Amino acid sequence: MTSSQIRKAFLDFFQSKGHQIVPSAPIVIKNDPTLLFTNAGMNQFKDYFLGNKKSPFPRVADTQKCLRVSGKHNDLEEVGVDTYHHTMFEMLGNWSFGDYFKAEAIAWSWELLTEIYKLDKNRLYVTVFEGDEKEGIPKDQEAYDEWKKHIAEDRILLGNKKDNFWEMGDTGPCGPCTEIHVDCRPDEERNTISGKMLVNNDHPQVIEIWNNVFIQFNRSKNGSLEPLPAKHVDTGMGFERLARVIQQKTSNYDTDVFTGTISATENITHKKYDHSDSKEAIAFRVIADHLRAISFTIADGQLPSNTGAGYVIRRILRRAVRYYYSYLHYKQPLLFQLVPLLAKQFEDVFPELEKQVDFVSKVVKEEEEGFLRTLEKGLKRIDDIIKSSAVNAQTVISGREAFELYDTYGFPIDLTRLIAVENKLTVDEPGFELEMKAQKDRSRAATTIDTEDWVDVNKVDKTSFVGYNDLLIETQVVKYRKATAKGKQQFQVVLETTPFYAESGGQVGDKGILQFGEEKINVVNTKKENDLIIHFTEGLPADITAPVTAAVDFEQRLNTMYNHTATHLLHAALRQILGKHVAQKGSLVSPDELRFDFSHFSKVTDEELRKIELLVNEKIRQNIPVVINEMPKEEALKLGAMALFGEKYGDTVRVVVIDPAYSIELCGGTHIGHTGMIGLFTITGEQAVAAGVRRIEALTGPAAIQYTFDKINQFKNIGELLKAKEPLKAIEKLMDEKAVLQKRIESLEARQLVQIRNEILQKDEIVNGVTFIGDIIEVSSAEALKKLCFDVKNQLRDYVIVLCANIDGKPYVAIGMSDVVAAAKQLDAGKIIKEYVAPLIKGGGGGQKTLATAGGQDVSQLKDVITVVKGLL
Ligand code: ALA
Repeated sequence: MTSSQIRKAFLDFFQSKGHQIVPSAPIVIKNDPTLLFTNAGMNQFKDYFLGNKKSPFPRVADTQKCLRVSGKHNDLEEVGVDTYHHTMFEMLGNWSFGDYFKAEAIAWSWELLTEIYKLDKNRLYVTVFEGDEKEGIPKDQEAYDEWKKHIAEDRILLGNKKDNFWEMGDTGPCGPCTEIHVDCRPDEERNTISGKMLVNNDHPQVIEIWNNVFIQFNRSKNGSLEPLPAKHVDTGMGFERLARVIQQKTSNYDTDVFTGTISATENITHKKYDHSDSKEAIAFRVIADHLRAISFTIADGQLPSNTGAGYVIRRILRRAVRYYYSYLHYKQPLLFQLVPLLAKQFEDVFPELEKQVDFVSKVVKEEEEGFLRTLEKGLKRIDDIIKSSAVNAQTVISGREAFELYDTYGFPIDLTRLIAVENKLTVDEPGFELEMKAQKDRSRAATTIDTEDWVDVNKVDKTSFVGYNDLLIETQVVKYRKATAKGKQQFQVVLETTPFYAESGGQVGDKGILQFGEEKINVVNTKKENDLIIHFTEGLPADITAPVTAAVDFEQRLNTMYNHTATHLLHAALRQILGKHVAQKGSLVSPDELRFDFSHFSKVTDEELRKIELLVNEKIRQNIPVVINEMPKEEALKLGAMALFGEKYGDTVRVVVIDPAYSIELCGGTHIGHTGMIGLFTITGEQAVAAGVRRIEALTGPAAIQYTFDKINQFKNIGELLKAKEPLKAIEKLMDEKAVLQKRIESLEARQLVQIRNEILQKDEIVNGVTFIGDIIEVSSAEALKKLCFDVKNQLRDYVIVLCANIDGKPYVAIGMSDVVAAAKQLDAGKIIKEYVAPLIKGGGGGQKTLATAGGQDVSQLKDVITVVKGLL
């Protein structure tokens, strides 16, 4: 079976068992503060397990793009070194939401593996949870008994909490699990040591392929397990491992999931992949693996950046670059060349990459170029460190230096170690770890939000949002909790019904007031956690059980709505004026302004900006009704809605239409009724934000009008100041005049310098047989002072000259002398400046033996400067 056939067989099998096949959720998670990336197939169903929401289907199955590179599940350092861990992998999964349970899940996994995929039963082992006294959970006898119906009892092994109790993260749905392992070793090895001994022992050929979790609990913040209202099944099978077992390979990288990119890498680098443990072979695997993680994450809307999810992606990309740079000796961008191949390979499963292949390639290429430049600089820096340690007879690269290489130049510690070893040095790794920890502590203190457990107030069946139509309602509090962010106390409140829009799709969260009787509590922001709408308040009322009036700040919301509708008008205008390649890459819709990021490869010219501005304003004047409907996603896409990759939509979507021939978008945001209400749209800025991504900033409504008034006023004031009817012409004239005046001043100053020179030449005296001139003069620049000291050399033979000036309250000194005097009297102008002059004028300076200058802070000592120099002579 090819990998495509294997994937299809899985989905077909579960479809035949009554499962709805759903698409993979995006790999980047937007609405869950506990996760940066999807780390398991069940993430998108978290709310169904917790009972916050009801699934439209009781049984679903899919293949989910997962990334395990941060948080609880992190395999990054293993990837490429071994042959069966990945950053991004596909997790094949089937789910029951309160529907079937252990018997069916176990029977079906056995049927699929042994009858459809025809795996050898004698190579399979299963594990079952042995129970845990501390958690108060008994052995999973039910799963054990179900397995007994299919597999010999000596192949059912008991496992502890670490292996057989699955948890999504520090908090969230969890439960006991049963895993299926395959022993892929050759017969002779299997005959010597039983596979049983090697299960869960990191043996590369005895590996877990499928995990069936029986979700029954929620792990709460305080560490306790709360039973869930219903029991669920959550399974995950590693697609790449399954392909390897079925295709009878000893490495995931030898399956057709990876061989295409590996042979393309061979062609590009002119190196051969030899399947070994050598650094070169690891490099091939790292590239084949990391390419997928980077490309699919960017396609799902996460650009590489310096923080959060974007930084994780940047680090993965850098790890790949470092491997091809160091071990394949390839010194140019490589990954981006492989993106089109990858996109084609996954066109049928994950079309989002193929649809944006030019954009993704471009972003990857620029990231690679950027890091290759840094890498070169870092290598220079490490060269300096190595050289200076040779001079100082040191044999260790300090923790601080290793950390600087890591932090500033993106050198992971293993690269520094490698280069150190090549140069017979070691690295102070504990010192490095200390520096790392200090940095982590600093960033944790700056970002973490520490939340306490929810406190229930009123039990309700469900919570709902009514803020598309209502901005003021009566409701009650469902629950609240306290939190601390950056050392500041916060309060979070959930309402049964709310008019407050929670930050999403770029639109900021609403602000407003919760009124309990006479008591008013400010809502400073509204955010979502999965589908739960959370109001961030400045305090809690005396009686939180009282009925509450929830009122959104109307003016701010209205301004936000102008900006949101205008954002759609702008998006459509960009596609009309710049081309259909324009796709949304980010957006901010606030009461004060709108910001729209989109894919486009060059600066938007002033002329294009004007056209865009005109078109949007034309659509505003046409006062087009904004029509919003809910419909199935497929229907919306048929209508021509612009689907945004990386957005997760349920089966029903909200479609916002502003003239079907102009703009149709899927959008959950709030909009005004007719475009005319926007009044005016003004672009205030255009700039680059990342490779291939531009940003437009704009204002609408009252803010746009204010901005325009301010500009007009400014212009009027300029006119008044210039006393001119046509200020522009007047400014041009002023600038021309200024240029003429400048020239005149320069020639006057040159003439003046000649005069000053002649004057000071009269002030010569003989000191110790040498001509000495010392004077405080009036000049307008330090440069003039220096020039005078230099110019006298044509008029004098053996001389020392010291000139001082007070220029705008600051002292300046220049010293000049002839070569002969410098040699005969062993004087050095540069040294005199540093050792004698600089301390006197409280400043610094330097120069050559025969000409040097200084500047400082204290003008009171200029006379002494002359006396001191004279004294030295
Ligand atoms: N959620 C389970 C896992 O990720 C299936 O292993």
